Amino acid sequence: MEDRFGRRITYLRLSVTELCNLRCRYCMPDDGVCKKRHEDMLTEEEMIAAVEAAASLGISKVRITGGEPLVKKNIVSICRRTAAVEGIREVCLTTNGTLLPALAAPLRQAGVTRVNISLDTLDEEKYTYITRRGTLQQALDGIRAALDAGFEKVKINTVLIGGFNDDEILSLADLTRSLPVDVRFIELMPMYDSGDFSASAFRSCDMVLQALPEAEPARSDGGVARLYHLPGALGNIGLIRPISEHFCAACNRLRLTADGKLKPCLHSGDEYSIKGLSKEQMAEQMRAAILAKPQWHEPLSYCTRSRAHRDMNQIGG
Ligand code: GTP
Ligand code: 5AD
Ligand code: SF4
Repeated sequence: MEDRFGRRITYLRLSVTELCNLRCRYCMPDDGVCKKRHEDMLTEEEMIAAVEAAASLGISKVRITGGEPLVKKNIVSICRRTAAVEGIREVCLTTNGTLLPALAAPLRQAGVTRVNISLDTLDEEKYTYITRRGTLQQALDGIRAALDAGFEKVKINTVLIGGFNDDEILSLADLTRSLPVDVRFIELMPMYDSGDFSASAFRSCDMVLQALPEAEPARSDGGVARLYHLPGALGNIGLIRPISEHFCAACNRLRLTADGKLKPCLHSGDEYSIKGLSKEQMAEQMRAAILAKPQWHEPLSYCTRSRAHRDMNQIGG
């Protein structure tokens, strides 16, 4: 279905949990989430009904997110049932990768076509600092497991943070030479209250291009990243620039949070609840949410934070 600005909405980001086994400093507070009541969260049945409702409105791609989707016990079943919904042509998943060694193969078999994996640094100490509890080896093992499981394309998501990893652009970009992966640098988005970061941590993705003068523009894959390619590399470099160049004009997304709220826009406080509704009622709410999509979100900066009133783990990115 089209929104009021002629954008075709074909992509649902479905968050299956707010919980995570890590605590990335830009995403969620150290003490975790204030746990919501079990009965306030969507059940597996409701998630599948929501995907069916979305498919009836023309959604063909579902990205499973979180929190960390792989901490959810029934994640393989959710993925399998999502992939089986008529009209859904692509099921992708965004993960921190640490639980992929056990789950990559079952997820691939369940019909997940692609995975995007977070990796902000190649330094062991810095990895444990930024995630507050993970180890670099777990993430690297997860990337290896994803490649071994044969996903169509593995993308690495790197949040660019001044004073933290802006000295690692070359080594992170080099992963596209040694592995068949895309590496995407994401500008840090100032969310609700989890940002330990001051304005000085923000870096524009221009910095990546300055560090990689040999990068040549590459053809878009239809996603939010502008793509570049290093000579001889196996994968692309991507720049995701929500701060320096927002990409709302091409937005094709609808978001559903783990507590059953449809979000017309990542950075707006508008929410439409579908918890406890029938599939037909869910489709009605989706129609309303799509028609309520704003043309663009207010410019983001460290003075004007996101109006989402949620941390990233409570939205799903
Ligand atoms: P592909 O299917 O591979 O194109 O994935 P994706 O880039 O849509 O998903 P992913 O979960 O890997 O998200 C990468 C980054 O882009 C995350 O930091 C998201 O928060 C951010 N992102 C995705 N969609 C939007 C959007 O509509 N607006 C903004 N501002 N950021 C977004
Ligand atoms: N700014 C930018 N990207 C973020 N992510 C989580 N929080 C933020 C933020 N504040 C990214 C993660 C993950 C993706 C889903 O969102 O790194 O790769
Ligand atoms: Fe967990 Fe991903 Fe948030 Fe890190 S960015 S705390 S891995 S949900």
